[in-house]
Amino acid sequence: MNPLHKWKMPVTGTSPEFPGEQWTALDTGVAHTARVWNYWLGGKDNYAADRQVGEQIREVIPDIITSARADRAFLGRAVRYLVADAGIRQFLDLGTGLPTAGNTHEVAQELAPESRIVYVDNDPLVLIHARALLNGTPEGATDYIEADARNTEQVVQAASRTLDLGRPVGLMLLGILNFITDDDEAVEIIDRLVAAVPSGSHLAIAHPTSEVNTEAALESLRLWNEHGEPKICFRSREELIRLFDGLELLEPGVVSCSLWRPEAGETPAPVYQFCGLARKP
Ligand SMILES: C[S@@+](CC[C@H](N)C(=O)[O-])C[C@H]1O[C@@H](n2cnc3c(N)ncnc32)[C@H](O)[C@@H]1O
Repeated sequence: MNPLHKWKMPVTGTSPEFPGEQWTALDTGVAHTARVWNYWLGGKDNYAADRQVGEQIREVIPDIITSARADRAFLGRAVRYLVADAGIRQFLDLGTGLPTAGNTHEVAQELAPESRIVYVDNDPLVLIHARALLNGTPEGATDYIEADARNTEQVVQAASRTLDLGRPVGLMLLGILNFITDDDEAVEIIDRLVAAVPSGSHLAIAHPTSEVNTEAALESLRLWNEHGEPKICFRSREELIRLFDGLELLEPGVVSCSLWRPEAGETPAPVYQFCGLARKP
């Protein structure tokens, strides 16, 4: 690999100008999910390897970009519902991704400037861009935690610096559980997060499936797992419904992101990314 593709960057602190003691390698020679996702969303924070795999997958499923955008549109509609209708003012967003238009804090704080948001991601490049995520309203608060979502204890403890875990929280798990390929582990992560927040909290999940255009979707999964990092799994609609066990799944249940409460007058086509939103009783 070209040595220039492997460079060192801080993994502690929130800014490269204040590096901590620990260092990790950012491998730009292998396609990485946050950067490929950024490429599909029209961003510039990606490298040749990301664009190459992103294009390979787009050849197999040309509407992957529509699917990625439908996921972000679901994020917007779900957060607006949570703030405006469910009275939620705190969010824990795991698997944040690289900042793009309509990040959770922007959507929430536009409606309720006092909203408090904690982001969690384990990709070192997302850490570099974390300052853009910390740029919230003066009335509210945003924080960024560099952690693996599997370390729920660390996540919950760090989140409690910014969020009052005695009050309802919107748990946003969009495009992240597909990296937790073991079903039992995915359920454990959800259970531990849901247990840490009170009644009235909500869980939003978005997840790739092969429910639409199955053959091509499975080929894209194979391509990703051959060339990209980290490895992923797809889950069926039924499997996604089970991830909400014990919670009140809100209408319209688990559906394509494009079909989750679309704007009036819209008749969108279904996409690969499915989603759901549920309330903790
Ligand atoms: C496809 S992006 C989704 C971004 C955003 N949530 C959205 O839906 O637009 C997935 C993000 O999850 C992060 N991620 C993957 N596995 C993770 C893990 N075990 N812990 C924390 N973050 C993880 C990746 O680094 C990446 O930024």
